[in-house]
Amino acid sequence: MKIAVLGTGYVGLSTGVCLSDSGHEVVCMDVDEEKIEQLSKGIPPIYEPGLKELLKRNIGNGRLKFTTSHKEGLHNKEVIIIAVGTPQSNNGSADLSFLEQAAKDIAENLNQNAIITIKSTVPVGTNDVIKNILKENLPHDISVDMAANPEFLRQGSAISDTLKADRIVIGTENKQAASKLEKMYSILHIPILHTSIRSAEMIKYASNAFLAMKISFINEIANLCEATGANVEDVSIGMGLDKRIGEAFLKPGIGYGGSCFPKDVKALYHTASEHDMNFGLLEETMTINNQQRELLVWKALSRFGDLNGKKIAMLGLSFKPETDDLREAPSIVISNELINQGARVSAYDPVAMNNAKKVLNTQVEYAKSPEEAVLDADAVFIVTEWKSFVESNWKQLVKEMKSPIIFDGRNCLKEEEIIKCEQVEYYPIGKPKI
Ligand code: UGA
Repeated sequence: MKIAVLGTGYVGLSTGVCLSDSGHEVVCMDVDEEKIEQLSKGIPPIYEPGLKELLKRNIGNGRLKFTTSHKEGLHNKEVIIIAVGTPQSNNGSADLSFLEQAAKDIAENLNQNAIITIKSTVPVGTNDVIKNILKENLPHDISVDMAANPEFLRQGSAISDTLKADRIVIGTENKQAASKLEKMYSILHIPILHTSIRSAEMIKYASNAFLAMKISFINEIANLCEATGANVEDVSIGMGLDKRIGEAFLKPGIGYGGSCFPKDVKALYHTASEHDMNFGLLEETMTINNQQRELLVWKALSRFGDLNGKKIAMLGLSFKPETDDLREAPSIVISNELINQGARVSAYDPVAMNNAKKVLNTQVEYAKSPEEAVLDADAVFIVTEWKSFVESNWKQLVKEMKSPIIFDGRNCLKEEEIIKCEQVEYYPIGKPKI
């Protein structure tokens, strides 16, 4: 099949790369010339396991191309996938301006009938808005079918999530479009759910909001476990064994971040309020998450009384491991708060240092290694659960510190190793301290 993808962010790029690897001819488009130039040479703009290899293979076999020209990219395509960003506007709703521009670009350059498939996360009803823009601007002899085909991939495992998704949701307005898109994905052997366009749009928001709610729920349970002496890890396992609840996304921590959950929970809340509904559950999910981001600072304050002049090593800056993305990362709130409290922050991340330097407080100091970060530190905060931190020699690391105090915001260090460290104080989340 001949496919065009508009937008080469996480979603567009992973989709384009995986569809070309499935045997389709794919052209990915973006307005960012430098990005397209790099991608054409097989250089990925983001850190994502497996992406580089797939890029290389499919550019090499001629099935994957990149261009900034809509005319060239849209020429003779049967399926057009829109995967441009829908960032948050000031009032919390999704900003659809990139999507509207994409629709105008398609209308101006499309040379045959096609299925316009929106993969970007968009509020219910957006397909209709885009269809109207297309109708107004397309030549009279060209017609399009609309489809909503939300994406459920996670950053850090985008390629494997795309190739091995739990489900593909296809919302269409007619059977021809539905069966064509089903055919496009058939080689992946993933269960497909066909719905109306509006239901498909809602499935994406409802799924992200539900997962975010699960995280906020377990974080509150973790806080209650600390107060009552229970162990949240056992509680999560015990809950997750019930198939109706499920074990996933019950890991407590310092709150969810990233480019999706915070934005999508807000946008769904906004949609509800547009329909005169106060979705209080979502409001509470957001409030809990904001509080949870400050948890390590509160714990350190309660341990030290005052953080003025204290050196805190912050290990992990990206919003989660296997990505260099700092969007809505807890590290931003934590470092700002530590600096407000008069602490010195020495930060280290295995891949996100360059991005961190662009967004973190200018007073944050950057270390070249975990060893350098913890040197003479009064405490260390584990902010992201990178494998390299889990596997570090903690017995040795704590010896470099002024006082061997660890606040583990991700419950990722191995307690059996920590116990072996001399005079260590270890504060996990939702579990008794060591
Ligand atoms: C999320 C969804 O998981 C994807 O299904 C969805 O496609 C994507 O948003 C999107 O809308 O594009 P992502 O933001 O990449 O994916 O990352 P997740 O792995 O879901 O993690 C989000 C945040 O939740 C991270 O900060 C992570 O640390 C936190 N989290 C996750 C927890 O605190 N506890 C958990 O048990 C799981």
